[in-house]
Amino acid sequence: MRYEQLGKTGIRISKIGLGTWQFGASYWGWGKELGEEEAISIIRSAVELGINFIDTAEIYGWGRSERVIGKALSQMDREEVVIATKVFPYRVTVSGVLKALRNSLRRLNTGYVDLYQIHWPSPIFPLKGAMRALERELEEGRIRAIGVSNFSLKQMEEARSYLQRHDLASNQVEYNLLKREVERDLIPHCQREGITIIAYSPLAQGLLTGKYGPGRMPKGLQRRLNLWHLYGRVDWSVVERLKELAERKGVTPAQLALAWVIREDGIVAIPGAKNLRQLEDNVKAAEIDLSREDLSFLEGSSYSHE
Ligand SMILES: NC(=O)c1ccc[n+]([C@@H]2O[C@H](COP(=O)([O-])OP(=O)(O)OC[C@H]3O[C@@H](n4cnc5c(N)ncnc54)[C@H](OP(=O)(O)O)[C@@H]3O)[C@@H](O)[C@H]2O)c1
Repeated sequence: MRYEQLGKTGIRISKIGLGTWQFGASYWGWGKELGEEEAISIIRSAVELGINFIDTAEIYGWGRSERVIGKALSQMDREEVVIATKVFPYRVTVSGVLKALRNSLRRLNTGYVDLYQIHWPSPIFPLKGAMRALERELEEGRIRAIGVSNFSLKQMEEARSYLQRHDLASNQVEYNLLKREVERDLIPHCQREGITIIAYSPLAQGLLTGKYGPGRMPKGLQRRLNLWHLYGRVDWSVVERLKELAERKGVTPAQLALAWVIREDGIVAIPGAKNLRQLEDNVKAAEIDLSREDLSFLEGSSYSHE
């Protein structure tokens, strides 16, 4: 595993983390395709394999994801893992954010969260009070770093401007071979400023694993509709290139897709996994080196500023 610093915090996180939206969400087949026991064993194995960065949110499975992590943590050394969670934007007020943090701490069964993130920019509540309240929580030790998620460069800079004594550690955004808009301005800016990009849906919710294709889409109407909403007409030529290069290099398309996301400093990926096989596959992505030729082959004609 490779590690790097989270923002300018001194906290060391693995380049491949573990996303846990899967734990508790019917969207991902919770209760059918996976359950609590599997989730706990995925978390424990992840840590054994060198992953120390686990991402969750109060909204995932309406608290179930945090609770499952809390159970797993009770059997582990808390200091070994860096836990990131998020507050949903409907309560980004001073009292709302403080209440959400306390509830997350209780579900996670811990005295502190390593990275506390505002999940989405709020269209209603002004950010200033919440950011200042989080800064106080940081100084009192209930959180170790403050992050945002789904913030544009402008929104992120606004959030940052409200912090008086600390800097923002990270911005968690959708980034994968099919979604590259953040390369235009957000990634270069964050790399210059020492703000970590946490890439979510690095496998485009499974589309980049090679097991899906035209006419072979994931199960579940809600997931299919969401994928349509997010990706529209999928450019399957990207997946074909992943498969071709994966075969030449003796790796899997999922590993290559992840290796591409984390190819530069300042970017980590948090793929979700529904079983141990997927987890073990994803962990190995951190060992893959991609040459210039590999990168341009994978990027092919997929890159568009439109
Ligand atoms: N901040 C935000 O707004 C936001 C939004 C979305 C996600 N996230 C975070 O990012 C994490 C990851 O994103 P994501 O869950 O949307 O998508 P993802 O990581 O791109 O895809 C995960 C899915 O791909 C499939 N998969 C994973 N590894 C595989 C492998 N090696 N081989 C074959 N299939 C594999 C599994 O689903 P199937 O087996 O069913 O195909 C898995 O559930 C989430 O868990 C969450 O923590 C954050």
